[in-house]
Amino acid sequence: MEVFTSVKSLRQYLDHQLLQQKTIGLVPTMGALHNGHISLIEAAKKDTDIVVCSVFVNPTQFNNPEDLAKYPRTFEADRIMLENAGCSAVFAPSVEEMYPEQPVLKMNFGALETVMEGASRPGHFNGVGIVVSKLFNIVRPHRAYFGQKDLQQVSVVRQLVNDLAFGFELVVCPTVRETDGLAMSSRNTRLDANERALASHIYRILAGAGADLRAGKPVSEVIGWAKSEFEKISEFNLDYFEVVNLKTLLPVEKIGSTGSNAICVAAFLGPVRLIDNIIF
Ligand code: PAF
Repeated sequence: MEVFTSVKSLRQYLDHQLLQQKTIGLVPTMGALHNGHISLIEAAKKDTDIVVCSVFVNPTQFNNPEDLAKYPRTFEADRIMLENAGCSAVFAPSVEEMYPEQPVLKMNFGALETVMEGASRPGHFNGVGIVVSKLFNIVRPHRAYFGQKDLQQVSVVRQLVNDLAFGFELVVCPTVRETDGLAMSSRNTRLDANERALASHIYRILAGAGADLRAGKPVSEVIGWAKSEFEKISEFNLDYFEVVNLKTLLPVEKIGSTGSNAICVAAFLGPVRLIDNIIF
């Protein structure tokens, strides 16, 4: 597995691969890898000849400096995991390499960024949009792989890829869960033992709400139930629990046809903010 820290050396390597008619898959990450990321590498390996994983903690998508400072950085462990997973190349640039100058461009994703994560983390999707656009231009992949766990990010990136005609296929892979249902996330490592045990309630409540909605219970009643379940556990500080249209991400009062809605949640456990969703 090759490791690149400069855009120039990565481009030289990729140009060589393209000359040999190889297809390229990109898995963008911020490191602190877990099996959720590895499932994206596996999916990319099935579809493409060369899999590039970027490992870059992107400062422009953090609106909270403490969150950025505490974001886990575990490059050596990441490198070993990627090597074992059969990844072809890692791109791990420094902040200076990625941002030789502070970008002035502002991306506006309209209604997609005014709800949920966008409302709670102002500027977050502008930062995501800029960094993934740079990665798409640097790597020029045939396919790029994102996890469904970051559902709103997937919607924003899909909009970006369509609006700017990036011309590659966006592949969305299912959320990978721990045995107790907790969605795998780099942030899980920041939970203490008590918080980690409580974190499984997020999926329990999501799954319960999904079952109730499928059984025909009104959306408002189900949301009320879910919020009261979070309130029962004092360690949780619920940010949002919403039933939304999968395309617009706007809240719905009635659920639509199968696969057209999602339940999305964000909650703090101590200082750690966790998100999850299910599509139904
Ligand atoms: O999902 C993430 O880890 C990040 O938002 C991404 C897509 C790598 C951009 O920094």
